[in-house]
Amino acid sequence: APTEEEIRGVVMPLASLEGPLLPMLHAVQDVWGFVPQGAVPVLADILNLGRAEVHGVISFYHDFRDHPTGRHVLKICRAEACQAMGGHAIAQSTLQKLGIGWHGTTPNGALTVEPVYCLGMCACAPAAMVDGKVVGRVDEARMHRILAEAGA
Ligand code: FES
Repeated sequence: APTEEEIRGVVMPLASLEGPLLPMLHAVQDVWGFVPQGAVPVLADILNLGRAEVHGVISFYHDFRDHPTGRHVLKICRAEACQAMGGHAIAQSTLQKLGIGWHGTTPNGALTVEPVYCLGMCACAPAAMVDGKVVGRVDEARMHRILAEAGA
């Protein structure tokens, strides 16, 4: 886990921004891949906020994680257009196959599965994203390949 000094080093340059909390959280997540527990008191102190407030913001935004991910991250769209095109069934069978829940990571550390709410790919629903790359028309066969390539 990063030290308080390391966290300060990453976020202090953003302290003069207006509304610095979200940029700071993004910066921390960019560096460590998640927002470590230890960042909460540091940010609360710098911004003169309560720890509960900082914690509340982290849990409110689906973008922030409070734990490290696997080597690959698969995001499956759970918004309406994708649900209507079979996204729900694909998501359920994928999680079942992997034996994990949303935000879970496979036991071998290969893959984390997260929900996402519209990737702007509604015309190619159901959509997913693998390590930042969008994939459309995800059916069972395509999902199977995604999992195999990720080593999940
Ligand atoms: Fe899934 Fe828009 S609803 S990409």
